[in-house]
Amino acid sequence: MTDKNKLIQDFNLNLICELHLGLEQQGPGSSEMTLKALSFLVNPDKISRVADLGCGTGAPTMVLARNIPGNITGVDFLPDFIKIFNDNAKKLNLQERVKGVVGSMENLPFQKEEFDLIWSEGAIAGIGFERGLNYLKDFLKKDGYVALTYESWFTDERPAEIEKWWVENVPEINTIPHNISVMQKAGYGLIAAFVLPEKCWTDNYFVPREAAGKALLEKYAGDKKVEDFIAKMEHEAELYSKYKQYYGYVFYIGRKI
Ligand SMILES: C[S@@+](CC[C@H](N)C(=O)[O-])C[C@H]1O[C@@H](n2cnc3c(N)ncnc32)[C@H](O)[C@@H]1O
Repeated sequence: MTDKNKLIQDFNLNLICELHLGLEQQGPGSSEMTLKALSFLVNPDKISRVADLGCGTGAPTMVLARNIPGNITGVDFLPDFIKIFNDNAKKLNLQERVKGVVGSMENLPFQKEEFDLIWSEGAIAGIGFERGLNYLKDFLKKDGYVALTYESWFTDERPAEIEKWWVENVPEINTIPHNISVMQKAGYGLIAAFVLPEKCWTDNYFVPREAAGKALLEKYAGDKKVEDFIAKMEHEAELYSKYKQYYGYVFYIGRKI
């Protein structure tokens, strides 16, 4: 689910949840890109406390857990995702170190300076990139890392159709240099920023989501609300195919100064 406050307002959150529940990941990404982001951290073996915010059912979290030591807390506001997250941790025998909790990124149940690393793939737009970076800083130890994927423009100019769609869904969307400067102003040194490859959107997300959408249409045959919802999802995938040279997810990795 690319974060869409507007979609969440427009459509029943239950439908968004049901569509994504059986998917391996709930947004664009891949284990390779999670590992690539992790590779920029100095001394990853010293990391002892990690939060994964907007963790969904935990695809990136489990990759982190298998590659760094320490305890990871996943937070998501959808209880059904957290249930699967905790089941997944158990299946991988990670339940002693990896725990999912239902909670809001707006109001995190953590102590100040608790974390060495705060991870968040595809969820920061829900609380705002700038606001989120400022808010999260308090929960990081000095020299702690933040690693986020966030919707970003690749060019200064965009066709009106795609500009309008994104501004409606993520009003704060901006270019990579702008986002880097926001991160720096919020008190982080830039460690790395890189673009997620197209496959993270298509093969890893839109393709399985389309299949899940078809199943939902069959289950709720004739339900206009479901049909509108799936049409909106399909439109999003079509726009990506048409305008992918103009935007995508960027991994931003910063270190608290
Ligand atoms: C695009 S999905 C990404 C899930 C997972 N990180 C992944 O990459 O597969 C975004 C997730 O953030 C969660 N989310 C969005 N806004 C949130 C908020 N304010 N508090 C907690 N969770 C939130 C959604 O429920 C969803 O699971």
